[in-house]
Amino acid sequence: MEPKIINLPKIIDKRGNLSFFEHPNQLPFEIARTYWIYDVPGGEERGGHAFREQKEFIVALSGSFDVVLNDGKKDYTYSLNRSYYGLYVPKMYWRRMENFSTNSLALIVSDKGYDDNDYIRDFNEFKKLKNE
Ligand code: TYD
Repeated sequence: MEPKIINLPKIIDKRGNLSFFEHPNQLPFEIARTYWIYDVPGGEERGGHAFREQKEFIVALSGSFDVVLNDGKKDYTYSLNRSYYGLYVPKMYWRRMENFSTNSLALIVSDKGYDDNDYIRDFNEFKKLKNE
């Protein structure tokens, strides 16, 4: 499966709206780990790596930011600016996150537990592996 913005259900209610994702309906994998990125100072970037095996699903729970994915050849920018958009990130895509708005909150769920050995932190190594 390719990277993809998935439109999540939005239950509109005058008491406040509600959205969700669950496997297998909106989320293409079972969740092993959840983390979130917050208090990002203006102008900072996160990410800047790829995962050998891990898949992720990213939601801007609050505020907005861009996720830039590279397939070894080209950048693709996904602007997450609604809390009912989820971005599916397959394994072996270089990803960085930038343009965080004030008070933005990025929720990330993954199909694997944290494993430092799953990271590729060198873009040239990533490109080589991806294009082999
Ligand atoms: P990292 O994935 O490099 O952050 P980002 O991709 O947002 O720039 O993680 C930063 C640090 O946090 C790194 O030292 C590892 C640690 N960490 C965990 O211990 N568990 C986790 O689930 C994650 C995502 C990171």
